[in-house]
Amino acid sequence: IWRIVLSGAIGYCLGCIISALIVGKIFGKIDIRDHGSGNAGSTNVQRVLGWRYGFYTLAGDALKGVVAVAIGWLLAGEIGGYVAGVCAVIGHNWPAFSRFKGGKGIATSVGVVLMTMPLCGGIVLAIGLIVIFATRYVSLGAVIAAGSLMIVGTLLNLHNYWAMGTALLLGAMAIFSHRANIKRLIGHTERKIGTPKKDDK
Ligand code: G3P
Repeated sequence: IWRIVLSGAIGYCLGCIISALIVGKIFGKIDIRDHGSGNAGSTNVQRVLGWRYGFYTLAGDALKGVVAVAIGWLLAGEIGGYVAGVCAVIGHNWPAFSRFKGGKGIATSVGVVLMTMPLCGGIVLAIGLIVIFATRYVSLGAVIAAGSLMIVGTLLNLHNYWAMGTALLLGAMAIFSHRANIKRLIGHTERKIGTPKKDDK
């Protein structure tokens, strides 16, 4: 059991390394949380600093999800991978070392789900990307992908409660973290990707 707990702790600490905060500090000399939507994620880095840095952020956050799962696997097998992956997203969303104000966990969840359940991850990622390309709302793609993850992840893992639980938890956390975006989408005030930068607050 202590190996599982250790996997979770390492996953959480990895999750706390928020690419958007690092990229914002190094390349923009800013705290990204004071700009754009205020979110420490790749969409907002793209919005404030441009595509290249948005991509670095996306890659960094997805990679930490992959690394967390790999470490969990090494330490405690399949269960360790699920626990470390979920904890990495928790660390990303609520980082103890950055005033508990992190991102929304999408990039990290993508890394975790592709590692732990590649088929489900591929389907859900495709759904999210199609919505983003079709509507240019990243948040809408993220929320629909999150809902799809809960459904597809359950249907494909009826006999694996750890996988099912991971899909349900990650999906629920993603929807919860997008509650402000959902309000903006309903009120038609959400920004599409590629529109000029302007702070929400
Ligand atoms: O995953 C984050 C994205 O869906 C929305 O980001 O900055 O528009 O709140 P943002």
